[in-house]
Amino acid sequence: MTTRRDFLCAVGVSGGAGAMFATMGALGLAPDAAHAAAPPYRAPRTGDFTLTGRTAKKVVILGGGVAGLAAAYELGKAGYDCTVLEARAVAGGRNRTIRGGDAETDLDGRTQRATFSPGQYLNAGPARIAQWMVTLDYCRELGVPVEVFTNSNADALIYNTGMTAPVRYRTAKADMFGYVSELLTKATSQGALDATLTPEDRDRLISFLSGFGGLTNGVYAGGGRRGYASPPGAGNDAGTLLGDPPALSETFASGVGRYFSFEFGYDQAMLMFQPAGGMDTIPRALTAAIGPRRVVLGAIVTSVTSADTGVIVEYTAGGRARELRADYCVATLPPHLMARVPHNLGTAVTAALNTFRVAPSGKIGLEYRTRWWEREMRIYGGITETDLDVSHIWYPSYDYHGRRGVVVGYYNTGQNALAYGNLTHPERLERALTAGALIHGPRYREDLASSFSIAWQKVPHLEGAWTGPPYGTPGYDLLLAPAGRVYFAGDWLSHSVAWQHGSFVSARAAVTALHSRVMTT
Ligand code: FAD
Ligand code: ALA
Repeated sequence: MTTRRDFLCAVGVSGGAGAMFATMGALGLAPDAAHAAAPPYRAPRTGDFTLTGRTAKKVVILGGGVAGLAAAYELGKAGYDCTVLEARAVAGGRNRTIRGGDAETDLDGRTQRATFSPGQYLNAGPARIAQWMVTLDYCRELGVPVEVFTNSNADALIYNTGMTAPVRYRTAKADMFGYVSELLTKATSQGALDATLTPEDRDRLISFLSGFGGLTNGVYAGGGRRGYASPPGAGNDAGTLLGDPPALSETFASGVGRYFSFEFGYDQAMLMFQPAGGMDTIPRALTAAIGPRRVVLGAIVTSVTSADTGVIVEYTAGGRARELRADYCVATLPPHLMARVPHNLGTAVTAALNTFRVAPSGKIGLEYRTRWWEREMRIYGGITETDLDVSHIWYPSYDYHGRRGVVVGYYNTGQNALAYGNLTHPERLERALTAGALIHGPRYREDLASSFSIAWQKVPHLEGAWTGPPYGTPGYDLLLAPAGRVYFAGDWLSHSVAWQHGSFVSARAAVTALHSRVMTT
């Protein structure tokens, strides 16, 4: 007789861990079967060609962001002859890490030069990676070292307009969870949920709420969870509690509760990771693996023609018009920019590319001479949330106890990002410092060493932070299929927009489709 365990082992051997977890999920044994939902990816292999006796095909890849580089890397494994055409002076696209010496000229012609100290950097685009993301698999495969990125920190702050002082996350959470638990306990005890709950359910819920909210006899009254004015010490020093919580109504009115759902998101839950030394370690490693001579920088694609026998791509490099012929093309430009490139792929393709909504976003990196957030506030990484227009302030998750560090003084989107982006670079800094000083006091201005800000909507060849894809429309589906010999890829063709994971899985999908075509025609 086959036992359940034997069955799982057999599935594990023939189908890999993914199949085993999926099976465990179906049997109700895996805690989260969703992890195994995607079909396993198998990169094209040199062996594929050897077996069929084919020679390597030539592929031109438009755009040297994560998707373009990943496509070249995966195709390269099977011996394809790939060339990546990248318009900017550095590969990586939105994966951009700013260090001392880097410069950017915005679309409005204003140039900014970073003067960060050696070792200091700003991840201007991507900064965090969830554990489930394929991005981490590439880090492993490419030898990119990773370290924990602190995405939520009980000792970081919340500050909303009207507060007399910022409040620690742990304090705000204790009060909010405490009062909500007290209310639900009351409602449950008074029978308000009797139509929904059995008596056993009711007891279990009340017991859960007691622990969740830190209640005593169904009542929230603060306690150590809120924090200490003076922490517990030696001998008989039990520490001094922070004090009584504000009234329930005051807690609700403060608006602190709106920040707590963030850390429950599938994308944003701890632990999260970052490459040690900067996010651009990923495109650097991909470029090294592909072979740097295959990545042509400063190459601006100006037209794409797909014919029966191949693809012709025109581009300019070093001020000269050039042309590249290949068997296939993978186009990874942002959709709104691809729509502007003259091509013969059809008006439906252009129309579809133009249906993606483009979102603005901005960040500023503030380098400080001291790590005052660690020394004076005991905040080691994490994010302070605020309703001020800076939205999020990030403390660095690297180089703890070092001499200096780069704080992200704003990371905003929507109208706030547009407002900051329309300012000059010194004006952006001034506005960010004024807001940040409301939370951190005068040191926020006084200890500053240098800064660098980015407004993604103003960055040449990107012109936006990410896009809103028109999922479920014929236009979106049209772009998932090749247009002649041209395949599209990028995070905009995934359900993980604004994440490198989306770029990687989309590149894999395009490469898989291209490779199966080559193998079957
Ligand atoms: P892109 O990076 O847009 O690449 C397109 C490339 O095409 C660019 O290099 C561009 O220069 C090039 N190009 C454009 N026009 C031409 C032309 N005419 N000729 C030649 N080349 C051209 N992801 C995460 O994983 N974690 C995060 O925490 C995270 N946070 C983010 C925060 C911000 C502010 C932003 C902006 C992005 C963030 N992302 C994050 C998303 C991540 O950056 C993207 O998903 C990913 O980098 C996109 O890669 P891509 O190759 O698909 O596109
Ligand atoms: N994925 C982007 C971030 O986490 C938007 O900041």
